[in-house]
Amino acid sequence: MVVCVCVCGGVCVCVCVCVSASAGATVQQFEEAKSKLSTLKNDPGNEVKLRIYALFKQATQGPCNTPRPGMLDFVNKAKWDAWKSLGSTPQDDARQQYCKLIESLVEEEGGSSTQLTTKAAGSGAVYETLLVTKEDNITTITLNRPAKKNAITTGMYNEIIAALEQAAKDESVIAVFTGAGDFYCSGNDLTNFSKIQDGGVQEAARRGGDLLRKYVKAYIDFPKLLVAVVNGPAVGVSVTVLGLFDLVYATERATFHTPFSQLGQSAEGCSSYTFPKIMGAAKASEMLLFNKKLTAVQACELGLVTEVFPDSSFQSEVWARLKAYAKLPHNSLTLSKQLIRSGEKERLHAVNNAEVELLVERWTSDECLTAIMSFFQGKAKL
Ligand code: COA
Repeated sequence: MVVCVCVCGGVCVCVCVCVSASAGATVQQFEEAKSKLSTLKNDPGNEVKLRIYALFKQATQGPCNTPRPGMLDFVNKAKWDAWKSLGSTPQDDARQQYCKLIESLVEEEGGSSTQLTTKAAGSGAVYETLLVTKEDNITTITLNRPAKKNAITTGMYNEIIAALEQAAKDESVIAVFTGAGDFYCSGNDLTNFSKIQDGGVQEAARRGGDLLRKYVKAYIDFPKLLVAVVNGPAVGVSVTVLGLFDLVYATERATFHTPFSQLGQSAEGCSSYTFPKIMGAAKASEMLLFNKKLTAVQACELGLVTEVFPDSSFQSEVWARLKAYAKLPHNSLTLSKQLIRSGEKERLHAVNNAEVELLVERWTSDECLTAIMSFFQGKAKL
């Protein structure tokens, strides 16, 4: 965008301020970006493609006001959701974001979408689905899709992996996970199942398995103190990975639910190993096989949760405590955590592999497909 400012002081001076892509994008830049998009050699992945679609629509037509496609029209609903999520973002901003995104894809040609996200995170760029802050020696990763109860999309899995990689390297002592809004997390975003591309269901399941394996591995290998601040109900994979955390603080409002058999699926996050170890085989079976939802107090009694706090004082009490912990000698904390966990690592990786293998098979089963359809038809709320 070129802004002309006229400064009159006896003589009239015309000052041209050239504001580059950081403040906006010209129609010409937008057109160039559109042409560059068609030159990309690698498929950037569904999440990125949806983002490109949404930004394009916002840039050219403004906010999404079209009727919402039906629940079973998975592809158009995903596109509609992506466009709608841009809310009232001005068209000029959308154009600018579109240009930047295409530019970054062109630059990254040859790299995967995960690499792209990691680079973006490392360079301080914004995550789409997370808020990541660093304060008082604590890196806080907030799951930030409150309208969808912080359900984890494919893109979000990649962003969490990237955020954990960053937190492992930064100067913080503790990494904290929490959720925006009234939920901690509603688990795997079930729309992930509807984004089937070339290769069909088998290939989609295989790709999903690779991502899940990598995701859980990021928790197993995380070298620093890992804390969950469970601010509300937690479902599915957000519960199962808790066995890999060092502390789990929960508000009394939180619940813990792993409804795998209800969904035709099976346990992940190493819970098939950590849960029986933490709470005993019988109680773990109630959760992992029979879908029993635990209250925060029950989860604490079983050892999955470290401590439960009244909802009214949850945030103040927990953060005061974490800030104090983060002042403890860094190396002592980190090395001691590694000592406690290192004997388990090999076993945990093997468990992760076995769980993923079974899940990939489950994801292609009729039982699973029927359960997902029921959810989107509004028949099956957990
Ligand atoms: N995947 C995809 N979308 C999800 C989701 C998930 N896991 N969890 C919530 N959402 C969406 C809902 O579809 C809804 O979207 P909409 O506003 O476009 O209709 C929105 O988030 C709000 O959820 P809603 O169901 O209206 O809130 P609620 O408080 O009544 O119920 C849950 C919350 C989590 C109990 C319910 O949404 C649910 O059962 N979700 C599925 C959880 C699940 O099966 N997770 C996988 C476990 S392995």
